[in-house]
Amino acid sequence: MKTIVINNQKGGVGKTTLAVHLAWYLAEVGRRVLILDLDAQANATDTLTRHAGNATAAELFKPSARIAPGGIDGLILAPADTSLTDVDRGDAAAILKLRENLAAASGNFDACVIDTPPSLGLRSVAALVAASHVLSPIYLEDYSVKGVKGLLQTFLGVQKRYGRSDATFLGLLPSLFNTKSPRQRAHLEQLLRDAGKYVFPGHIVARDGYAEAVTERAPVWSLKRRSAQEAGREIRAVLANIVERVG
Ligand SMILES: Nc1ncnc2c1ncn2[C@@H]1O[C@H](COP(=O)(O)OP(=O)(O)OP(=O)(O)O)[C@@H](O)[C@H]1O
Ligand SMILES: [Mg+2]
Repeated sequence: MKTIVINNQKGGVGKTTLAVHLAWYLAEVGRRVLILDLDAQANATDTLTRHAGNATAAELFKPSARIAPGGIDGLILAPADTSLTDVDRGDAAAILKLRENLAAASGNFDACVIDTPPSLGLRSVAALVAASHVLSPIYLEDYSVKGVKGLLQTFLGVQKRYGRSDATFLGLLPSLFNTKSPRQRAHLEQLLRDAGKYVFPGHIVARDGYAEAVTERAPVWSLKRRSAQEAGREIRAVLANIVERVG
């Protein structure tokens, strides 16, 4: 099972939008998918509520939690609830429990997508420890070399601290990209110059269809409006690239 963690401590950069679309896409191409919502805001849970399985995300931080296989359309959600915030206040042993519980479930799923909260608490660290792949959506308006370095340093620091050397950083993925904004385009160019090898080849354009998709609880490419169809084509190209890299 490949475990793809969508992570950035910054809020509102498109993590959840990407996580749910990646889960939908993987299920559509025939993978058995588990998605974990580690954010107590429960946005991914609201969108994917009909896929909720037997185990909540908070339970996966406890010893020997078992995730029943199956799921509607090949997709199972470990939903967020308010008890998730207790995890961050609890024992650090929970960090390794998540990894162990996912390892125990790995025979039943091809892919696990983890949506993380906009903070670097115990839950996000646990997700990074469990990851086989990490992808970080970024907002170009906020770009600063320091912030980008911080994301990489967090990834590398967690890998080192927990003795992981086998996880792959897929890259920084420019998201909510306003392609008409000269400032955002300049930020992207600067980012490519300064840290090009850490930038994912592709980006997600800011389009109206995404908010509608999440509210309609359906992938943007399934919506009728032309702008949503356009967004669907774009994000599917990015998702196909992610899936190819993950293998
Ligand atoms: N490509 C996009 N185009 C237009 N709107 C988008 C796009 N991606 C996300 N949004 C909107 O931006 C807002 C933030 O997106 P999202 O919830 O995915 O970010 P997040 O990083 O998960 O936020 P948080 O850190 O609060 O969990 C949402 O209202 C979402 O609908
Ligand atoms: Mg989110």
